[in-house]
Amino acid sequence: MITRRNMLLGTASLSALPALGNATQRDVLRASAIRQRIAPEPYAETDLWSFGGSFPGRTLRYKQGERLSLDLVNDLPAATSVHWHGIRIDNAMDGVPGLTQPAIPAGDTFTYDFALPDAGTYWYHSHLQTVEQMERGLYGALIVDETDAPDVDRDIVLVLDDIRFTDEAQVDPEFDGFFDRSHGGRIGNVALVNGKIDESFDVKRGDRLRLRLISAANARIFELSLQGMSAHVVAYDGMPLIAPQPVTETFPLASAQRMDLIVDITDDSDAYLIQYERDGGYAAVHFNVSGGSDTTRPTPDALPPNPDFPIDLANAETLPILIAGGAMAGLDHAMYKGTRMTGRELAQENMFWALNGQVGRTDTPMITVSKGQTVRIGMANDTAFPHAMHLHGMHFAQVLADGTLGPLRDTILIESQGQIEIAFNAHNPGDWLFHCHMLSHHAAGMGSFIRVI
Ligand code: C2O
Ligand code: CU
Repeated sequence: MITRRNMLLGTASLSALPALGNATQRDVLRASAIRQRIAPEPYAETDLWSFGGSFPGRTLRYKQGERLSLDLVNDLPAATSVHWHGIRIDNAMDGVPGLTQPAIPAGDTFTYDFALPDAGTYWYHSHLQTVEQMERGLYGALIVDETDAPDVDRDIVLVLDDIRFTDEAQVDPEFDGFFDRSHGGRIGNVALVNGKIDESFDVKRGDRLRLRLISAANARIFELSLQGMSAHVVAYDGMPLIAPQPVTETFPLASAQRMDLIVDITDDSDAYLIQYERDGGYAAVHFNVSGGSDTTRPTPDALPPNPDFPIDLANAETLPILIAGGAMAGLDHAMYKGTRMTGRELAQENMFWALNGQVGRTDTPMITVSKGQTVRIGMANDTAFPHAMHLHGMHFAQVLADGTLGPLRDTILIESQGQIEIAFNAHNPGDWLFHCHMLSHHAAGMGSFIRVI
């Protein structure tokens, strides 16, 4: 029997208890339309779509080994879904409408609940009508912290984007233009970091920072450099490098790629992340330096490794992929919706790209392999454009010319007329999308999938 006294005691002791590490504590993430200031006055605020009420969306942060568990409430005027880019995820949670789940209709809720096996810098984004939905702002950072995180003064997330504005500082609503789809994708006219045109931080000389670069751009390949700091790359696409690499030159960051950098501020007044355009370099991020000291620090240690799935090149299944189509090369013929069409017929459908002669995803995977099998994919880019090829669900390594493996990645840039080979351990069962992350290219045919059973 509960007396009043016991009840009071019960309440008191309950509130005094620390929250239990209950993994099924469910969070809510709301997708909705918002307005946010991007361009300065007298421009109007910009109409955007958001996960969690801000642009970029709410940064989700967990510890390695925890579960992400949340109700995605869709308050948008359109259906959507969420893809957790780079997470070696349970296939049913991968967020690909028509492949791993139905789209979440406007007004509905979908529960995402999955383990986070790897630490690192990841991100999440809509995976429906992506040219439009990601351009309108449906993305955010997903950070999984190492149990034994490196010792830095600050950990800074930098989400890079470029957005195509109208003269009124609104998202240009022409999302399906044939030019973007057949050329280099939707390139913006305003560069943003964390949704701002002038992102800046106050730091001290000698500070050690961890910079987590994430490209959420529709198609642009950022060309970047660092100034006023000494820097090492410690991870690509979330996965730690065996040995940190010093950064001495400009470097590219393609759509969806990430880089973790450990940097020491060396200048006594200003440091920058610089982004290059055709006409020169601009400060994408300004680090306003004051005080501090000029003691130099030792080279950063490597990040603790994530679980390893060894790649066995000698006993691999092989999948050659020919990337074809686009302006200035075109398609002779390709299969689309079960019909063989000429390039001209495809262009009338606003479709331009093919993987192995197939435009867009069908019900048939490019290859079916068994779990644990190593797969080698040799890609040949027979087009006039670079592409940022992304595999869902598993990280791969580039097979280098000398037969050794490059760093683990989930998105890799292949230059026009380039040939690269990648390999991965198919450790994760399910249907996994393989597509170009230049979103207009994917929309215009550059995507298929791989089945692991
Ligand atoms: Cu960033 Cu198919 O995804
Ligand atoms: Cu592409």
